[in-house]
Amino acid sequence: MSKLSLKNKSILVTGGAGFIGSHLVDRLAAESPTRVVVVDNLFLGKSSNLDDARALLGDKLICHWQDAADIEAMREIVRKEKVQVVYDLAVIPLPASLEKPMWTVMENVKLTTSLCELQREGVFETMVHFSSSEAYGSAMFVPITEEHPLRQSTPYAASKSAGDLVALSYQHTFGLDLTVLRPFNNFGPRQNEGNFAGIIPIVIQRVQQGLPIIINGDGLQTRDYIYVTDTADAAVRMYEEPTTRGRVINIGSGVEVAVNDLVACILEVMDCRNHPIEHGPDRHGDVRRHMAGTKLAEEVFGFAPKVSLREGMKTTVEWYLSQSVKAGGASC
Ligand SMILES: NC(=O)c1ccc[n+]([C@@H]2O[C@H](COP(=O)([O-])OP(=O)(O)OC[C@H]3O[C@@H](n4cnc5c(N)ncnc54)[C@H](O)[C@@H]3O)[C@@H](O)[C@H]2O)c1
Repeated sequence: MSKLSLKNKSILVTGGAGFIGSHLVDRLAAESPTRVVVVDNLFLGKSSNLDDARALLGDKLICHWQDAADIEAMREIVRKEKVQVVYDLAVIPLPASLEKPMWTVMENVKLTTSLCELQREGVFETMVHFSSSEAYGSAMFVPITEEHPLRQSTPYAASKSAGDLVALSYQHTFGLDLTVLRPFNNFGPRQNEGNFAGIIPIVIQRVQQGLPIIINGDGLQTRDYIYVTDTADAAVRMYEEPTTRGRVINIGSGVEVAVNDLVACILEVMDCRNHPIEHGPDRHGDVRRHMAGTKLAEEVFGFAPKVSLREGMKTTVEWYLSQSVKAGGASC
């Protein structure tokens, strides 16, 4: 089967003003699309995350600050913008599911199901749905291949698995042109640093504020950290390769990193090795062990991450520090 191309395509990214979504929009610009349409309700996303994309795409970037779970509004946008390919990224994140579990589950499942329904109607051609490694829960074996059982440990993880199952069921029942990309932990610039922030922006902020870093539990829990531009690149490659359809494909670095070592890496890059660290209680539902098996992605579309943890962390820290300088904040 020959490779497909995003050239001259109208592409929609839900959650496109978020962390991974905005990097994906930047990456899509290199494919010479007719237009890239962002739908984001700015729940956590920011218009400023698309500043690079605005420079790259000019008036080919179209933003709708809109609820992507509103099927009527989405039908109108998809028709108006003549969308052919949809990247489904909009999400309520994991920490929100610890405070508002039912709402998180309902929102995340609705976001994906609405798009499946529109694709079933034939309003657009292809969907790349973003899953999450959280769907696996704690590893029963490593590396975690796509055959690993789904053992969700939070309502967020359950909502992501449910979205995947809905997407795959629509693909199977209605023959949709659809694939599921399952990323492990992403890191890089533009990761949300406000409400529901992840560990990397939190650690950088605490160092800047001169506050001790609090690690949940013993810090021996592990994750697989992939630099965000490697994920964005994989999302393009997955579209291009028709044999990905109907499949779930892991995207990660294949490197297992303990949270203690991640924090040490951030502190080393910030040149603050002796910054105080404390250990707090475990976070409810925290996954103990994660490490991606990425053989399938390697075989199917030659996936090979380019950016190491150390290299990516340098760029990430520099970016957060530059934001903080803009805001008049102090550095370590
Ligand atoms: N960041 C990671 O480490 C990671 C790991 C695995 C999977 N993922 C998946 O990747 C995708 C993107 O994650 P992210 O880290 O960029 O998250 P993010 O929170 O930075 O981005 C999600 C975006 O969705 C938007 N959004 C939320 N509800 C919406 C709604 N109803 N309508 C329109 N927009 C809405 C938010 O405003 C935000 O901009 C998600 O599907 C997530 O599950 C992320």
